[in-house]
Amino acid sequence: MTDGGTAAEFPRRPAEAGAGERLVSEPIVPEAGSFDSATMSRGIPGVPARFSWRGKTYTVAALAGTRKNLRPCRSGSGERYVHKHFYTVETETGEVMTIYRTRSGSKKDSWTLYSIDESRQGATREGSASGPGPAPIRLAVLVSGNGTNLQALIDAAADDRARENVDGRFGIALVIADREGCFALERAQKAGIPTALALPPKGVARPEARMAVSDRVLALAREARADALVLAGFLTILSGPLIDEYANRIVNIHPALLPKFGGKGMWGHHVHEAVLSSGDGESGCTVHLVDSGCDTGTILFQRKVPVLPGDTPDSLAERIHREEHAAIVEGARELARRLAREGDR
Ligand code: GAR
Repeated sequence: MTDGGTAAEFPRRPAEAGAGERLVSEPIVPEAGSFDSATMSRGIPGVPARFSWRGKTYTVAALAGTRKNLRPCRSGSGERYVHKHFYTVETETGEVMTIYRTRSGSKKDSWTLYSIDESRQGATREGSASGPGPAPIRLAVLVSGNGTNLQALIDAAADDRARENVDGRFGIALVIADREGCFALERAQKAGIPTALALPPKGVARPEARMAVSDRVLALAREARADALVLAGFLTILSGPLIDEYANRIVNIHPALLPKFGGKGMWGHHVHEAVLSSGDGESGCTVHLVDSGCDTGTILFQRKVPVLPGDTPDSLAERIHREEHAAIVEGARELARRLAREGDR
């Protein structure tokens, strides 16, 4: 079979597998008789209107693009034949999936789910790639700095996609920063996660600036259809309608054992300096729900570390950071479990 040049019928090419696109490479079963007869009549193998994968049926809502994988004929004639015909489809339930039909060889006429584009759908939703159990919740993660806590979340979300029965699964739909150029944004971009800025306006008093950042975060979270928010080293104090709309759905990580060493001005190295000056023998991190106060919401859990003789703010911060990376993932999972219990999404 030679390439009849039919790709022009579908000018948009599906994305190459790249950041945000999860390779699946598993068989799918097109529903018999559900092929698009309009395209078949033009000699293109039709796109199934419905197909099943892992026991769930997906209905194709739109064809977003197509491409062909060509191979040279063995005869040496220079002709090339179609080996695989790829279609990127959008399903009724919002997944963006690339499927292909093998057109030659031992698997001729079989169909495969090649990939799921999670960057376009933000995070895996009901039934798309979830396997059994509740679907992952969609998180918006808020950052201001280096983003090691964000990285822990990114890595855990990637693990979740590879495993099926993780309790409290989540995907990251969006990363929001309150400043330009922080390294956390680079981490998100490298992982193929959409990013956005919620910058404080210049020349206004601090409460108004905080409100503006909060309102922008709310608009972005709604747009990303975020189920919940995680503050992973986010240094703007949030206020206003965001707190009500996402009540009990925002967690923050704080690098000390709240209620000690919390509140305004207590962030980063300031916290560790205060702990060292206090002479306390232990510190740690706290994961808590966010309310309209500063570091005052319900404490979900804490992880403790000893304060050692000779500790500096940096050495203490490093010890706490290691605990934070497990704690923040646990915080995100706890949000997912709570939302699943409430059936509230
Ligand atoms: C973390 O230690 C976090 O607890 C702290 O900022 C650091 C961010 O590190 N947050 C606060 O101080 C909030 N009051 P990271 O950017 O490497 O995740």
